[in-house]
Amino acid sequence: MPSNQFDEVRRRHDAAEAGGGEERRKRQHAEGKLSARERIELLLDEATFEETDKLVRHRCRDFGMEGQVIDGDGFVTGYGHIHGRLVYVFAQDFTVFGGSLSEANARKICKIMDMALKNGAPVIGLNDSGGARIQEGVLSLGGYADIFLRNTLSSGVIPQISAVLGPCAGGAVYSPAITDFTFMVDKTSYMFVTGPDVIKTVTHEDVTKEKLGGATTHNAVSGVAQFLAQDDADCLRMIRKLMEYLPQNNADPAPRRPTADPIDRMEDSLDTLVPPESNVPYDIKEVIHRIVDDGEFFEVHEHWAKNIVIGFAHMDGRPIGIVANQPAFLAGCLDINSSTKGARFVRFCDAFQIPILTLEDVPGFLPGTEQEFGGIIRHGAKLLYAYAEATVPKITVITRKAYGGAYCVMGSKHLRCDVNLAYPTAEIAVMGAEGAAAILYKREATPEKINEYRQRFANPFIAAEHGFVDDVIEPRQTRPRVIKALRMLENKVDTMPRKKHGNIPL
Ligand code: HXC
Repeated sequence: MPSNQFDEVRRRHDAAEAGGGEERRKRQHAEGKLSARERIELLLDEATFEETDKLVRHRCRDFGMEGQVIDGDGFVTGYGHIHGRLVYVFAQDFTVFGGSLSEANARKICKIMDMALKNGAPVIGLNDSGGARIQEGVLSLGGYADIFLRNTLSSGVIPQISAVLGPCAGGAVYSPAITDFTFMVDKTSYMFVTGPDVIKTVTHEDVTKEKLGGATTHNAVSGVAQFLAQDDADCLRMIRKLMEYLPQNNADPAPRRPTADPIDRMEDSLDTLVPPESNVPYDIKEVIHRIVDDGEFFEVHEHWAKNIVIGFAHMDGRPIGIVANQPAFLAGCLDINSSTKGARFVRFCDAFQIPILTLEDVPGFLPGTEQEFGGIIRHGAKLLYAYAEATVPKITVITRKAYGGAYCVMGSKHLRCDVNLAYPTAEIAVMGAEGAAAILYKREATPEKINEYRQRFANPFIAAEHGFVDDVIEPRQTRPRVIKALRMLENKVDTMPRKKHGNIPL
């Protein structure tokens, strides 16, 4: 090739890498944000990134755009490795037209999404964008819809992860919303369907961008985001950590991780961790840390609906999903948010062949008009539905309370859970003894009558006699017993009746 052709190749590559130029990159850094390329570098294993469509240009000829053409058109797309495994990635470059979505760069994203689906590998999107490219009108909107379609078609086939590292507004929010996990960065990211100015005009409310759609809002209040990172680097580290638990696709097993933690490790401290009094709180995360490999638990949705704890861990080197009621928050009751949180996680694990361990200590559903008017019936049903339809290995350990409808919902035998164990402190009943005696005996609900009910039902033995729990175990045995169950279930096959899809109560 003549040298002037090499020059042209280099010139175009350099132009793509320069993005919106030094000034804009400095501004990005001054705001505490990394550039799109810096982000990809931190996300992927060193020197594994292969860029696609670096030379793509937009085709807009309106509003003076013909004079403003930047190779790559502001999105960096391609593939590389995380922990030696293939992933596809796209990153919006805010220095080029505010990272806005054009017809051309939407096609770049669609191209890698299509390849990811065909090749069965996760897609990670790093979002930092002013939304639809205003100069392109409906061509940009079409680009969004093309992406949403692919997000939906890929759902349950390959893991999809979104990081919001700057603005993400308008309809653009719906791509992260469809993906499996959304990360946000404290203070530099925000998501909303309509911004503060529109809200002021329509509802006369005054609200800041941060309060409306900042990382804390979506992690702790709305539940839209599952992870809160301190800065870009922290966020990208967390995504790499999450990837340790995820398979490449719905047909591949999740990667195993060797551990020196003995599979038969007894944990004596568990024998006294759960208080025998049913109304004394304890931290269920303590139980989790003591039974999983190396005490390592990667919590999902840590800041929202804290009455249920969800997340990933390894046991016997296998990734598992854990769903646990949290007696230390709202007594571990089920309410609208915790039901939704648990249900989505159970469905993720089921879609990707990740076994589910449920730790149950639940006094029931939260009473009150707020919950009933908010549709706890519909939302609680999601969790029930998710457990019932899940065909992955399902193991439940009842540590203490398993009352009422919540007993049925939280991975009961009746929802085809495979192995159900209970601690001696388990109380499996329609409700607590005081409440039950008050209804049965009204004013004659004496301490003796309450005690009689407690003696009869506030224990795991009736359930065990009926085979609704497979065994009552000493808490110290939890790790070995769960691991034996996981090994036994390794080749489990279970099915659903033939259907197009179910109709989960949304
Ligand atoms: C084209 C855009 C742009 C956009 C920003 N820019 N957003 N160009 N289309 N949507 C350009 C700016 O002109 C500017 O160019 C550069 O990006 C940086 O923007 P600034 O405004 O200087 O940055 P900042 O002060 O940080 O403000 C960021 C911002 C603001 C809050 C995102 O730019 C903004 O409000 N943008 C418009 C957001 C918007 O309304 N988008 C449409 C949403 S509706 P220069 O050359 O000066 O560097 C939508 C529908 C999707 O997206 C529907 C899907 C179904």
